[in-house]
Amino acid sequence: MDEAHSAPKVLVTGGAGYIGSHTVLELLGAGYRVMVLDNLSNSNAESLRRVAELSGKPAPLVVGDIRDQSLVRDLLAREQIQAVLHFAGLKAVGESVEQPLSYYDNNVGGTTALLECLAEAGVRAMVFSSSATVYGDPRHVPIPVDAPIAPANPYGQTKAMIEQILADLVHSDPRWAVAILRYFNPVGAHPSGRIGEDPRGIPNNLMPYVSQVAVGRLAELAVFGGDYPTLDGTGVRDYIHVVDLARGHVAALARVLARPGAFTVNLGTGRGYSVLEITRAFEGASGRQVPYRIVGRRPGDIAQCYADASLALQLLDWQAELGLEAMCADTWRWQSDNPQGYRETS
Ligand code: NAD
Ligand code: UFG
Repeated sequence: MDEAHSAPKVLVTGGAGYIGSHTVLELLGAGYRVMVLDNLSNSNAESLRRVAELSGKPAPLVVGDIRDQSLVRDLLAREQIQAVLHFAGLKAVGESVEQPLSYYDNNVGGTTALLECLAEAGVRAMVFSSSATVYGDPRHVPIPVDAPIAPANPYGQTKAMIEQILADLVHSDPRWAVAILRYFNPVGAHPSGRIGEDPRGIPNNLMPYVSQVAVGRLAELAVFGGDYPTLDGTGVRDYIHVVDLARGHVAALARVLARPGAFTVNLGTGRGYSVLEITRAFEGASGRQVPYRIVGRRPGDIAQCYADASLALQLLDWQAELGLEAMCADTWRWQSDNPQGYRETS
């Protein structure tokens, strides 16, 4: 695509965050013009400064909340936005159990507030960040996209509710184009080591926890459960490199810009790895030891979860290309170059 003003301009909500910042970089590389709206509740503007540096193109940020309709209306009146990639939301499962109202308000209320403004402005194309968590405890693996929806926590409920809202919206007005992307377990970082996942406090997720153990910020990994019916007794997940995931968004965006209607795809690799496999692979990539101890299961966890991502290949001509070695090596480069995440530079 040419750099001219005719290049489509897209709004990226939550674009300063982990997956959003990697996607902004891929969008700029694909020739899109980008505007980010993020309230920085779980991110740092430094991520976008680095995206601009890596791409040599602007990655402008409006600091604000998707629930602030006057701000969103002004932004849409000012900018010629053609589509929205909607990442903004809260994502910690445990926190959602403790603070359900804040999850329903931010995720569901935030999305309906945003959709109202988009409808008013005639912007009817959206790529939405959903999650494999909508499947709850799957009956079969790999999980096809038409498997039953049975979220097991308020966070998962918000994703399932937003999916339903989007389906109803497309049904009410067939001019809308909506892509629902159900991510499996995003990990890794851009290979430059300049942007990556920067969780606040002690990480909830496996890969950032393992990398903080390897770099010496945390003492040892607690492996949640060694008695699952899996190859080595530890939980199995479909880890997907964040750069592959970001490219999946570029493919989904091209489709929503090209035709109306709604579609839902799984974005995963189709292959599962256990906690101990991840730990060993990370030791190999980092050359550091990752001491661990097997403890009890984490409430709400499932034994295994991996995707049937064949529909994404069929509809988007997309499939994951980066393997476990790249996921670990790129996480390690980001972690070792930025042991305190973005905080050192902000
Ligand atoms: P993240 O927290 O790094 O990014 C989310 C961004 O949204 C943050 O920058 C945050 O500041 C912003 N935000 C939150 N509420 C907002 C609001 N009301 N208004 C404006 N900005 C707001 O998380 P991420 O891992 O990059 O996830 C992005 C999206 O993908 C989320 O919707 C998440 O639920 C979904 N998802 C993530 C995973 C995962 O494991 N990381 C898995 C499946 C789905
Ligand atoms: N695990 C540990 N120790 C830790 C952290 C995790 O053993 O300190 C284990 C878990 O028990 C699980 C695996 O590592 O077996 C992966 O756990 P994560 O917390 O990294 O990921 P989850 O699969 O539990 O959930 C993640 C996101 C959800 C999202 C889901 C989609 O946190 O928001 O992936 O599949 F919905």
